[in-house]
Amino acid sequence: FSLKKHNTFGIDAHAKEFVAIQNIGTLQQVLQSYANKPKFILGGGSNMLLTKDIDALVLHIDLKGKKIIDENDDFVWVESQAGENWHEFVLWTIAQDFGGLENMSLIPGNVGTTPVQNIGAYGTEIKDTFESCTAMAIATQEMRTFTREECQFGYRESIFKNEVKNQYIITSVVFKLTKHNHNINISYGDIKAELAKKNIETPSLKDVSEAVIAIRQSKLPDPKELGNSGSFFKNPILNKTDFEAIHQKFPEMKYFDISATEVKVPAGWLIEQAGLKGKRFGDAGIHKNQALVLVNYGSATGKEILEVSQIVQDTVFKTFGIKIEAEVNII
Ligand code: EPU
Repeated sequence: FSLKKHNTFGIDAHAKEFVAIQNIGTLQQVLQSYANKPKFILGGGSNMLLTKDIDALVLHIDLKGKKIIDENDDFVWVESQAGENWHEFVLWTIAQDFGGLENMSLIPGNVGTTPVQNIGAYGTEIKDTFESCTAMAIATQEMRTFTREECQFGYRESIFKNEVKNQYIITSVVFKLTKHNHNINISYGDIKAELAKKNIETPSLKDVSEAVIAIRQSKLPDPKELGNSGSFFKNPILNKTDFEAIHQKFPEMKYFDISATEVKVPAGWLIEQAGLKGKRFGDAGIHKNQALVLVNYGSATGKEILEVSQIVQDTVFKTFGIKIEAEVNII
C-alpha cells in the first residue's frame, strides 16, 4: 500500500498493511487482534519523513466529528475528533466567532496530532487554549483523559513525545475558546504588517486568520504543490553564556529572549546565512522563501531528504557552532 498520499512530503514509501479507523470500536478491535504485531499510527502525515517502507500495520486515524460540549457566559468548550483536518476545524471555530485558534490558521495536519508537538505559530501555541484530550492506550485499549497539565507542553514538546511516547492514540481534543473579549494577539510583526496593508486597526478573528493565511501562503510552500513538512528543524534554544559568545562573532544574528537564562535563535536565519536557502540537491532541497523548510521537488526519497537535512545541520554547525535538531519525526 503506497503512503504517498498520506504524507505531505509526498514520499512514495509503502506500508505492509493499512487500515483507516473511523470509529472507536474498530480501533479497539484492531488493537486487540494485532496485540503482538508491529503497528504504526498515522494522523495527517504532515510532520514526518518516511525514509523506508513500513513493515507494520498502519492505522490511519480517521475519526470525524466536531461539536460544542459546554459553555458559560464567556467561554465555549469545543471537541474535535482526531481525524478532523486542523485548518477546517480552525475555520469552523472562527465562523462562529470563537476565539483562540486564529493565529494557527492553515497549519497542515489533523487535530489529533496537534497536542503531540504542541503546534504553534505567530505567537500562539495550542497549549494556550487546550483543555484536555482523550486517548486510547495501545496495550490495554483503555481510554484516558489527559489534562493540560498532564500533557507537559513545551516548545514543540509534550508527554506524548517523552514519557508516554508510542503508548497512546489520541482520539479527540477539547479546546476552551472565548465567546467575546477575544485575546487578539498581533504581537508577531508579520501580522501587524499584513493588517496594515489593509488598514485594519482593530482586527476581528477573521481578519487575523486571513492575515496569517496570507503570510503563510507567501512564505511556506503548499504541500499539494511542493512536498514538505513545514519547519523541518526546531529553533535552537541556547543558554545565555553560549549565546553571548556566538552573538559577538555574529552581531547581526536574530534572537528572542525566552527566559532570564535562555535565548531562541531562528534556525531559518542560520540556514540562510550559511548560504543554503534555495539550494537544490536532485529532487530534494531547501525552500527558497523559508530556509527552515525542506522540500521534495517531485520524486525525492526520504533518504535523500534526510541527507539534505544532515548537510544543513553540518553546515550550520560549522558556520555558527550551533546544533539544530529535526522537528519532524524521522521514520
Ligand atoms: N528567517 C530568515 N531566513 C529564513 C527564514 C527565517 O532570516 O529563510 C528569519 C526571519 O526573518 C525572522 C525569523 O527568522 O526574523 C523567524 O522567521 P519566521 O517568522 O518565518 O518563523 P520561524 O521561526 O522560522 C516558526 C515556526 C513555524 C511558524 C512560524 C511563525 C518553528 C520550528 N517554526 O518559524 O512553524 O509558522 O514560527 O510563527 O518553531 C512548523 O512548525 O512547521 C512551522 C511552520
